[in-house]
Amino acid sequence: MSATISFNDGAAYERYMGIWSRSAGNIFLDWLNPAPGLQWLDVGCGNGAFTDLIIRRCRPAMVRGVDPSAEQIEYARAHLASDTVQFEIGDAQALPFADDGFDLAVMPLVIFFVPDPARGVAEMARVGRPGGWVAAYAWDMAGGGFPYAPLQEEMRALGLAVPLPPSPEASRLETLRGLWHGAGLVEVETTVIEVQREFQGFEDYWDTVRGGPSVGARIREVSAAQKAELQARVRARLETRAGGPFTCSARAHAIRGRVAGA
Ligand SMILES: C[S@@+](CC[C@H](N)C(=O)[O-])C[C@H]1O[C@@H](n2cnc3c(N)ncnc32)[C@H](O)[C@@H]1O
Repeated sequence: MSATISFNDGAAYERYMGIWSRSAGNIFLDWLNPAPGLQWLDVGCGNGAFTDLIIRRCRPAMVRGVDPSAEQIEYARAHLASDTVQFEIGDAQALPFADDGFDLAVMPLVIFFVPDPARGVAEMARVGRPGGWVAAYAWDMAGGGFPYAPLQEEMRALGLAVPLPPSPEASRLETLRGLWHGAGLVEVETTVIEVQREFQGFEDYWDTVRGGPSVGARIREVSAAQKAELQARVRARLETRAGGPFTCSARAHAIRGRVAGA
């Protein structure tokens, strides 16, 4: 039974994580407050959920999006055709760009997926121009801030393996600060982002996670009896009124720093 996380469906990603990503991304952009006309790099752009915010809110000169998932990139290209955006397949640990080319390199909800986070941050610093910004935000995985943490906890309580990204500790605030300082970035600052999302009812929640790339893939594999018990536990935990809508919360850590040498 697999416990890996595969991003191979941009549309399912949109419902599962894209909605959360946009909520957190809006707060992140308020905090970054970038000037218009910048050259942006979106590392781990996925299906383009955050890239879309950059285009609609930040009047960029250009945005380049990079992600290793061909399916996510295909979805992003199909949904965000624009003269100012270009998507390509690539890895955060070996960015396919020359030094010093970007005013702002961002990594939204990605750092815990990068096997060597220090290398990923060093790559963003390398391609950032002196005086430019390197910034990221990521769910507080270790502190229970992941949007579907209650489901993960109930899975663990039933002895079911919970798929985790390769570097779940990377999004701790102190770890992020160490990574940014370690890459030689200066003027490093952090903040905490809290978001909420309403589900129309338990069926809406369950369909959403079933289609998603991590817990969803795992719960599709469990037996009918385990599934029924898991559903009962999660329903009891989340529903405030039988059959009614409910709200879930999530928490992300954000960080920014400047490339030295301007
Ligand atoms: C939770 S999604 C975030 C997508 C998008 N940034 C957003 O905010 O919605 C994580 C993304 O990281 C990508 N990813 C995984 N490993 C990566 C790596 N080594 N370098 C760059 N991106 C990676 C995945 O393919 C996936 O699209």
